[in-house]
Amino acid sequence: MNFDDLLLVNNTKSKQYYKDVIEKTSLAIINSFNTSLAYKGLSPQALKKELNQIDILPENGESFDEVLKKVVSKIMPNFLYTSSKGYMAHLHSPALIESIASELIISTFNQSMDSWDQSPVATEIELLVIQMLTKLYGLGDQSDGVFTSGGSQSNFSGLMCARDWYCNTVLNHDVKKKGLPSNYHKFRIYTSQLSHFSVEKTAHILGLGYDAVRKVPVDDKLKMDISMLKIMINEDLAKGLIPMAVVATLGTTDYGSIDDVVSIRDICDEHSMYLHSDAAYGGALILSEKYKDRIKGIELSDSITIDFHKMFLLPISCSAFLVKDKDLFTPYQLHADYLNREEDEEEGYTNLVGKSIQTTRRFDALKVWISFQTQGKNGYATIIDKCISNANTLYNMLDLADVYETIVEPELSSVVFKHRGSDKLNKKIRKILLHENGLVIGQTSFNDKVYLKCTLLNPLVTNYELLHLIKKINEIVIEETKKLKK
Ligand SMILES: Cc1ncc(COP(=O)(O)O)c(C=O)c1O
Repeated sequence: MNFDDLLLVNNTKSKQYYKDVIEKTSLAIINSFNTSLAYKGLSPQALKKELNQIDILPENGESFDEVLKKVVSKIMPNFLYTSSKGYMAHLHSPALIESIASELIISTFNQSMDSWDQSPVATEIELLVIQMLTKLYGLGDQSDGVFTSGGSQSNFSGLMCARDWYCNTVLNHDVKKKGLPSNYHKFRIYTSQLSHFSVEKTAHILGLGYDAVRKVPVDDKLKMDISMLKIMINEDLAKGLIPMAVVATLGTTDYGSIDDVVSIRDICDEHSMYLHSDAAYGGALILSEKYKDRIKGIELSDSITIDFHKMFLLPISCSAFLVKDKDLFTPYQLHADYLNREEDEEEGYTNLVGKSIQTTRRFDALKVWISFQTQGKNGYATIIDKCISNANTLYNMLDLADVYETIVEPELSSVVFKHRGSDKLNKKIRKILLHENGLVIGQTSFNDKVYLKCTLLNPLVTNYELLHLIKKINEIVIEETKKLKK
């Protein structure tokens, strides 16, 4: 074995090999961008057949060139091209070019964010990025935060802080030491019926169960109905239950609708409840002068989820969990002699493991540090405004056409609609677009009916692509109707 080919170290041969591998890889990537389709169209069965031909663990290793050839022929053409203007399905964004370079830096240096001695400069950068973010979101002097693997982990962190805060301060029960209090089954968490399912998952993981989550109906704009929230809390109090927290959604997954955090804060204060804001999607509006008012009140939250791998267009994974009061992180603190000794922390060595449920953790903060500087506030505002304007355009186009039904005017960048035909037809439209047209759109349900969804996170999309999508859907409808008549 040639050890010069293993690691990047201070030696000419290893540097040359690193350069070779990275250059060949980036060239292969560039060459694979030879299509405007979002997906080549292979079915799961066809993909399996193609990939099964490769022996993943041969007896002896092959050269990188040989393996890259297989990546180029079998994997790259079958990727979902997230930067294609035909990819509009999920809250899943393309990645800004500079942020891809950030990933290369992150993986090459492979810092681990749990302890300072595994990530000296990276720890200091994460601290600075968090400081900048807490200021940006107006969380005040006592605030703090940490990077997480995504919105689900950030929401989990928010509800874990909520549970522990409630037990410690309102019930005077140390949940970290003693476990759940005896009346834990009475705890209730309120969230809109359109909130992300990670809220229920978290309730389960925290030992509270799905029944602890009270789904508040939404109003005609698909925002949490505040009067219903009040009624449900009062009903639960009358039953002897314990309203503990509200999770507001600032940008629902399907519709981008934004809950009224200001009113929710008042209700939380009245009942000594914790307020977590899931701004995984809508948090990006903070950088848009035009739209930032739509998330006003976010600064009143006890904690916030922000996903940079959504509207900020950074590669997966990149999310932050921000808190108004750094003491909320107490539940996470536990000292291990091998890792985060208390004496080191007293000397100024910050070990970020004290704020995270992860131990080994990526240096995702670098992506924000680099992209915020390359885009600046104005660059991001242009991207965000363009995506929202595209959603408005698509909504208006569909709203004007008799054959389509829309639900709500977009506040962010997603549009949910259906063709007035059957559920079956709408499902078929999505499948045919995916497998035959290289266009990937989403599917959801509303009032038990199948709807289609476009999440517009690609600022390169123009009216042309939006019209093209509608044209393709119309063609599919004509074809499918013809088939039915035969
Ligand atoms: C509103 C909202 N919150 C949380 C999440 C979960 O985020 P992640 O997929 O990064 O875990 C999503 C995902 O789409 C979301 O839409």
